[in-house]
Amino acid sequence: MVDVVIGGFFGDEGKGKVIDYLAEKAKIAIRCTGGNNAGHSVKVAGKSYAFHLIPSGILNKGTKAIIGNGVVIDPRVLLEELKMLKDNGIDYSNLYISTKAHLIMPYHVAMDGLQEVLRKDSKIGTTKRGIGPAYSDKMERSGIRMETFVSNDFEKVARHNIEKNNAIFKLYDFPLIDADAVIEEYKGYAKKLKKYVCDTVDLIYQSLDKKEYGLMEGAQATLLDIDHGTYPYVTSSNPTIGGMCAGSGVGIKNINNIYMVIKAYSSRVGEGAFVTELLDKTGDRIRELGHEYGTTTKRPRRCGWLDLVAVKYGVRINSATGLVVNHLDTIGNFKKIKVCVAYKYKGKETMKFDTNFDVMSNCKPVYETFDGDFKVNGITNREDLPENAKKYINRIEEVVGIPVKFIGTGPDREDFIKC
Ligand code: IMO
Ligand code: MG
Repeated sequence: MVDVVIGGFFGDEGKGKVIDYLAEKAKIAIRCTGGNNAGHSVKVAGKSYAFHLIPSGILNKGTKAIIGNGVVIDPRVLLEELKMLKDNGIDYSNLYISTKAHLIMPYHVAMDGLQEVLRKDSKIGTTKRGIGPAYSDKMERSGIRMETFVSNDFEKVARHNIEKNNAIFKLYDFPLIDADAVIEEYKGYAKKLKKYVCDTVDLIYQSLDKKEYGLMEGAQATLLDIDHGTYPYVTSSNPTIGGMCAGSGVGIKNINNIYMVIKAYSSRVGEGAFVTELLDKTGDRIRELGHEYGTTTKRPRRCGWLDLVAVKYGVRINSATGLVVNHLDTIGNFKKIKVCVAYKYKGKETMKFDTNFDVMSNCKPVYETFDGDFKVNGITNREDLPENAKKYINRIEEVVGIPVKFIGTGPDREDFIKC
């Protein structure tokens, strides 16, 4: 059976930690969606590893680390990540890349930048990694799959696409892409990556047929989902459960636990509505105490109190079976902690999470206040948590309706409660 880890909010929930724990037992670890817009840090033996593309399961020798068909791959970033592993003496012969995964080309990155400029005041605040344009090409059917990337057809397809994109860049006076140079450069990357490219669906089922344990590593998050998130301020894939199945080939029958990861507070990067955002000293304090600066873009994250209306919505969309609550230590620094348990919209209280921008912008949080001032570092049993921390966790379960299965109590691998 396969367990799934999914982001429950706007990303950066600390998915890496629970993934790292579960991956230890996994024979296969699969990335299913997104690309190097993700940033997952895993701390092992005092060393911190930042992954953007490779499943963090790569750190375990016995785990096959699979980049699934739903992922978009920037080969430069992938090769940098492999170099980082090599420099740290980590073997990565256990890496597998789907023939069907799509390539991010330099024109995608440039187009991501151009589109943000053209959006002017309504920019999305993308990571500018070419994610949106790469998925656009995939859907429009002019994308380059890994199977084409490593074949002799690459040059022809790439040249055609570069010319097409250059025509648009010319229109907007944007720097043009040098087709010959890019093709030469990318042929070099293809040579290096070819040996990892394979039919990952077949590989996954070889493992599942043997009843081995697998892990699907979520990237991005529920509220960034292209369909179920806060469109247009979202990413260009479906990081929710359905997209993860499509992005890996794992059928629903094979799935056991679906863990949705949240923090004991909320954060968001980029633009878009955020009901519990705190634009005051408390928000700044959460950012500083929680080190809320991007792994991928280093941007300061917008911070606020925990929003259980949004979390409950995510539990539904993902069929989540358990919650992972990170940063309980961070929130314990506050004397009083607020939690949003409903919205007030047009004078009425509601639990409805409406992703429409205008509706969301006009929802006001209805808070419950909890006593904080607790320390949880070093605690490994839920029963040993201070009373105030227990009350906080219990209330989350009550409102959301599923159990909390893991609690993050600090930055290190060991700072973790398995409930
Ligand atoms: P992890 O896996 C946080 C956000 C971007 C932007 C929007 C669209 O680390 O949780 P994109 O480059 O995807 O077109 O940007 O989505 N975003 C993330 N925010 N964590 C992520 O991934 C994100 N991936 C995309 O900030 O608002
Ligand atoms: Mg991130």
